[in-house]
Amino acid sequence: MKYDFTTVPNRKNTGSFKWNFSSQHPSAFPFSVADMEWKTAPQIIEAMKQFAENGFFCYTGAEDAYRSVVKSFLQRRHSWNIEKDWIFCTPGVVAAVNTAVRAFTKEGDGIIIQTPVYYPFANSINNNKRKLVKNPLIKDGSTYKMDFDGLRRLAADPQNKMLILCSPHNPVGRVWTKDELTTLADICIENDVFIVSDEIHFDITRTKHFCLPTLNAEYAKHCIVCTAVSKTFNIAGLGTSNIIIPDADIRKNFENQLTTDGYTCINCCSYPATVAAYTQCDDWIDEMNANVDANFAFLDAFLKENLPQIRLFDREGTYLAWLDMSALGLDDAALEDFMINRCGIIPDPGYWFGDEGNGFTRLDIAVPQSVLQDALFRLEEEIKKL
Ligand SMILES: Cc1ncc(COP(=O)(O)O)c(C=O)c1O
Repeated sequence: MKYDFTTVPNRKNTGSFKWNFSSQHPSAFPFSVADMEWKTAPQIIEAMKQFAENGFFCYTGAEDAYRSVVKSFLQRRHSWNIEKDWIFCTPGVVAAVNTAVRAFTKEGDGIIIQTPVYYPFANSINNNKRKLVKNPLIKDGSTYKMDFDGLRRLAADPQNKMLILCSPHNPVGRVWTKDELTTLADICIENDVFIVSDEIHFDITRTKHFCLPTLNAEYAKHCIVCTAVSKTFNIAGLGTSNIIIPDADIRKNFENQLTTDGYTCINCCSYPATVAAYTQCDDWIDEMNANVDANFAFLDAFLKENLPQIRLFDREGTYLAWLDMSALGLDDAALEDFMINRCGIIPDPGYWFGDEGNGFTRLDIAVPQSVLQDALFRLEEEIKKL
């Protein structure tokens, strides 16, 4: 390995969301918020040092050089040939989803999500006074599939105007296949349901990810695709995402809403970080993926051997593990308390992702393997005492 994925960090008192919470539980380790306990690529750190040396932290836009590297990254890593003017920068994917909700729907319109799913989707619907419409995923052995019959029924309701797709899917770890994405998009388009495709986890995969518009030129007229450097390179704090919009009319609407929302420039530090990330760091992505895969394999083997009552779902993408812990017989509050205060593991509780997550736990496994190993030993010990 060329890069360091083993050093155990201490991010206390750095303002980190997940470490702030863990300061109330000093003996617990955070496996919660989806950022990594691995430093970003050294090439990015170097680019930012040079940028800082310049001493100008001024209003910054996504000019041509920035657009060129995003374009060539999408071509190289995702076989997607975009035009540079399809790129819009927002202060994050969550901001973009909220902007899209305001741009493409009206108050009271229905927006479909496939639960359990990343909970800010529900917030973007509720906070903007749209109607949350759930089409829960279906558990299928050790994995999940989409409920296409349910989707057909909901999409046929003219009040439902949008679907927010999580692809790859947080928290269940699916990388949707070409067939699944095609079926979903065809149903949405037949029924005039606009798709916001959140593909932020698109580089963290074991199986092939398809950017939605690459599957069919028609899809490009009915969707926006949310991407970012942030999740891939652990630089979410730089607050920039690249929203790709192939259709000119959709671009116009989105741009108008961006202006209304006051998003006119990008974080100046994200500029050099993105350029370095997308031009010098492909090998870091590959090593990062190898480490996530190794951690997942370790977790899977450990649970099968020592804690078979905990059911781990298959993972095709993301660095998140989705565990059904309902066999422990604890309600959600008791499970959360058990994980944090007895096992020293701060999770994202499953119920945050919708009722379908009751009894579940999501663990961020982008951590040095020694940290995961210690956590699992503690979990085993405490479960034996139950
Ligand atoms: C599916 C998904 N979308 C968006 C985000 C956050 O995006 P951002 O930090 O760019 O707002 C996350 C973070 O975990 C995520 O899992």
